[in-house]
Amino acid sequence: MKGIILAGGTGTRLYPLTKIVNKHLLPVWKYPMIYYGVEKLKEAGIEDILIVMGKQSAGLYTEFLGGGKEWGVRLTYRIQEEAGGIAEALNLAKGFVYPGDKFVVLLGDNLFEDSIKEFAADFAKQEEGAKVLLKEVADPRRYGVPILLEDKIIWIEEKPTVPKSNYCVTGIYMYDFGVFDIIQQIKPSSRGELEITDVNNVYAASSRLSYNLLKGWWTDAGTHASLLEAGSRLAKGKGDQGKKDE
Ligand code: DAU
Repeated sequence: MKGIILAGGTGTRLYPLTKIVNKHLLPVWKYPMIYYGVEKLKEAGIEDILIVMGKQSAGLYTEFLGGGKEWGVRLTYRIQEEAGGIAEALNLAKGFVYPGDKFVVLLGDNLFEDSIKEFAADFAKQEEGAKVLLKEVADPRRYGVPILLEDKIIWIEEKPTVPKSNYCVTGIYMYDFGVFDIIQQIKPSSRGELEITDVNNVYAASSRLSYNLLKGWWTDAGTHASLLEAGSRLAKGKGDQGKKDE
């Protein structure tokens, strides 16, 4: 299985930090944010990884991660010219993955404790479709919120004012190659972006969207408060996926 980390977008919620450096390169505990996604994929045995990034700070990614040798992975890079949405960024992975492939997609600002190894193994056995990982949160209003029916998701509401469950759809997705046909079908949302939730709802509407629950901590480090939270979670040790203190 291959892995894709989506690190485009503008990071406006982290302004002014993101005025000079891209969000996914901001320090989180001991490493730039982008490192943790690479580490999570590697831990799951996924060593072929595509990083989709914006133009801002593009050279710094290669300066830090290089071709991936130091980290035990093989890295490919692609540029998303404008922040046209998560699904638009994912569409750039066509040509990195091939018909018949299944792959894991991580949003570069999602930091979490659980290993995704078992979930990816589970998805490898799933005949077709997609899988998302969910996390129970106190206030799901700023996320995609799933409506569940037994072992399937039947619909996802993006940032609902009145959420129908306490779960959020994290930025940990798994897809079959059919996702690229779906991306062709969807239209930009009112904010002008190709939304990943619209893609996931095509799978959901045809009972092809499975899910698993994360048990450990999870956060998207897209705001000042959650960036701070992610750093302190990692610093506490249990979630420290980095190399041990030298
Ligand atoms: O973090 C989980 C949430 O992520 C989900 O619950 C939502 O359903 C999903 O839509 C997404 O919501 P956000 O509003 O938090 O997404 P945001 O625009 O902040 O983008 C998150 C990451 O996606 C970002 O770190 C990089 C990547 N991205 C985003 C955009 C808009 C791209 O690579 N390209 C883009 O154009």
